[in-house]
Amino acid sequence: MILWKGKATMFRVNENYLKLPVNYLFSNIEKKVEAFSKAHPTLKHRVIRLGIGDVTQPLIPAIIKTLHEAVDEMGQMETFHGYAPDFGYEFLRTAIMKNDYQGRGCNIEADEIFVSDGAKSDCSNIQEIFSEDSKISVCDPVYPVYLDSNVMAGRTGVWNSQTKMFSKVIYMPCIRENNFSPEFPKEIPNLIYFCYPNNPTGSMLTKAQLQEWVDYANCVGAVILYDSAYEAYISEENIPHTIYECEGARTCAIEFRSFSKNAGFTGVRLGFTVIPKDLKSGNVSLHNLWRRRHATKYNGAPYIIQKAGEAVYSSEGQSQIKEQIVYYMKNARVICEELKSVGYTVFGGVNAPYIWIKTPAGMNSWEFFDYLLENANVVGTPGSGFGPSGEGYFRLTAFGTYENIVEAIERIKKM
Ligand code: MLT
Repeated sequence: MILWKGKATMFRVNENYLKLPVNYLFSNIEKKVEAFSKAHPTLKHRVIRLGIGDVTQPLIPAIIKTLHEAVDEMGQMETFHGYAPDFGYEFLRTAIMKNDYQGRGCNIEADEIFVSDGAKSDCSNIQEIFSEDSKISVCDPVYPVYLDSNVMAGRTGVWNSQTKMFSKVIYMPCIRENNFSPEFPKEIPNLIYFCYPNNPTGSMLTKAQLQEWVDYANCVGAVILYDSAYEAYISEENIPHTIYECEGARTCAIEFRSFSKNAGFTGVRLGFTVIPKDLKSGNVSLHNLWRRRHATKYNGAPYIIQKAGEAVYSSEGQSQIKEQIVYYMKNARVICEELKSVGYTVFGGVNAPYIWIKTPAGMNSWEFFDYLLENANVVGTPGSGFGPSGEGYFRLTAFGTYENIVEAIERIKKM
């Protein structure tokens, strides 16, 4: 036996993880659905999932064609691609710059765009480049990733099981009374997380409202972390498609985008983050920090997938993805109109593929989840899973198939 000197100490875990709910919101829902299906095997195939915002329509022909071609390229010595450039291929960054930014009059350069495997990873990883004591503010309700990633990093303080809030987080209630729009918090934050079009409430900020937040961030020295994954669903005028439409955003905003919701890439994985070179803390450029982080921790999205991303911007690609968006928004309209017709109070679904419903008969969010699952065999997402101000609400996604949406609504109307 080898005798080691010194006292052995057991390895220790990152105890911040212990402050998290045991399961991620959507894993929790999945577990409940599995348990229901096991308990009611005859109903298993009747369950309609309108919980997680996962797309159901297949990839458009323009993307499939490009994927096939790119796969063939990988089989030839002359056109084979190994590691992708860490920050993304020039062809994709240029297409993004031209279409998503310069085409909208925004001054963003291709080298300010970092291509990645999706907005979820970037939204959760971005906090690494900020100091440990950064004060974060989130909308309440909120997409759980912004908060959970900061819990893991030890930035959120102590969990209060009564209030269902962390002691060091600034919560900005987005409730019916304020039209689901955040108000300026009393305490000044360092990092402000926004998601517009909003997940989960489906609400929007007008350009004038967003401009106020940009002015505020520049004034107090905060950074806005702007998740614009659902931008393609904006249907109304005067709503910004990117935060860089606001004057001064280059010095206070980082934007996250995804190909998941506009082009059905949830199973393909592609997104990007924009960090303007003007965004600095003193002399330190956040662009440089993220560049450094990305180069060390990420090896680039696959060539095949980036070619598919480029195809989204072709004229065929644009018209084909628009058809899918129209399809999902028709679903959203059906959900809103039909539920309203039987007395539900419904929000969202106009500029976003999410419908935010007031739970009926005083049920709390999880009670309504169970009620809906048992009586209509329909799965949604309890509003309280997104934060305490989501209690008493319920989210349905419009990403189902039209047939399933119609069937689900018929069943809900009969409950
Ligand atoms: C959701 O349902 O909120 C989204 O699908 C989550 C995500 O995009 O990661």
